[in-house]
Amino acid sequence: MKYIENTPYSIQGQRVLLRIDVNEPIDEKGYPQDTFRISKALHTIQYLRSQKAKIIIIAHLGDPEGKYNASLSLRSIAGVLAEMGGFNIDFIDSLIEDIDSTQSHRIQDGDVMMLENIRFDPREEMNDISLAHTLAQFADIYVNDSFSVTHRNHASVSIITTLLPSFAGLVLAKETEVLNTILHNPKSPSVAIIGGAKIATKLPVIEVLETSFDYILIGGKIANEYIDHYASQSHPKVIVPIDFIEEKRYDIGPKTRELFAEYIAKASTIVWNGPLGWFEHKPYDEGTKYIAQAIAQNEDSYSVIGGGETVDEVHNLHQEAKIDFISTGGGAMLEYIAHKGQLPGIEALEQSSVEFIV
Ligand code: 3PG
Repeated sequence: MKYIENTPYSIQGQRVLLRIDVNEPIDEKGYPQDTFRISKALHTIQYLRSQKAKIIIIAHLGDPEGKYNASLSLRSIAGVLAEMGGFNIDFIDSLIEDIDSTQSHRIQDGDVMMLENIRFDPREEMNDISLAHTLAQFADIYVNDSFSVTHRNHASVSIITTLLPSFAGLVLAKETEVLNTILHNPKSPSVAIIGGAKIATKLPVIEVLETSFDYILIGGKIANEYIDHYASQSHPKVIVPIDFIEEKRYDIGPKTRELFAEYIAKASTIVWNGPLGWFEHKPYDEGTKYIAQAIAQNEDSYSVIGGGETVDEVHNLHQEAKIDFISTGGGAMLEYIAHKGQLPGIEALEQSSVEFIV
């Protein structure tokens, strides 16, 4: 994989098609209610601006199912991105197909243009080469900085790399570096905490973690399913809850909280993804809060967390500063672990053979 920061060539004046992920929860006016991914996306944008590249941003918001949907326009997010970064963004609200590609030649060095929600185009999720050809007309090189969509085989993530010299951005580079260390060299004692609802997506993650981690603590709905259907199998590293706060098993109980906290307190490496109870319904968020506090209290460990609810919980408790790395990927982080880094967007970058002609 080539990294934009390491390219020996000058990118001054080059038109860079930059895929970012600013898929934040939005309010009824389309304004982001969180800015975590937006602030992360600024790293590569500011780097490209400092190199005087011409930047054309592509991103998605929500799930418009391949159709225009005014409530999922990226216009407000573009405004917030520009405000936070302290630069102007020329937001193009036409559909991709209607944009005159010569517009990209009018961008000044260091300036930023942003296109409308790429998922308004049905060809994005079909990984359609015709959309990639249209996008490629706007640019000289492609940079993928959207770690959280690298598990999607989409045109702006995957097939675009067959048409343009392709590089990983700063966020993607850091995410893969951290997750590779976690996957291959976690410092012992290493503890993974996996919660959430979907056993089908979590089981492959647990199986991979079993090869390198010392303990895998599980909670949430997946723990109930695990206890009911998989506990008879031999998984000596998997630690299941020993009590719940009530019969319906909507949250881990006090003895489990203490037991999990003991493992966490002794850990040198901690990875956490997924709530440990029926988090959306109080008081079933208490177990998750307890675990978030326990992780924050172990300041000597290297801690990595990911997943919407997990990150929200740490954020609500104002404990972000005590976590070493917060992934921008929810599903992508889990898929990265489950597939040992072999995700469509990563493989596309690795296999891209289009040369950068200066
Ligand atoms: C996310 O929110 O995790 C990413 O933006 C990917 O979104 P998706 O699940 O709609 O592909």
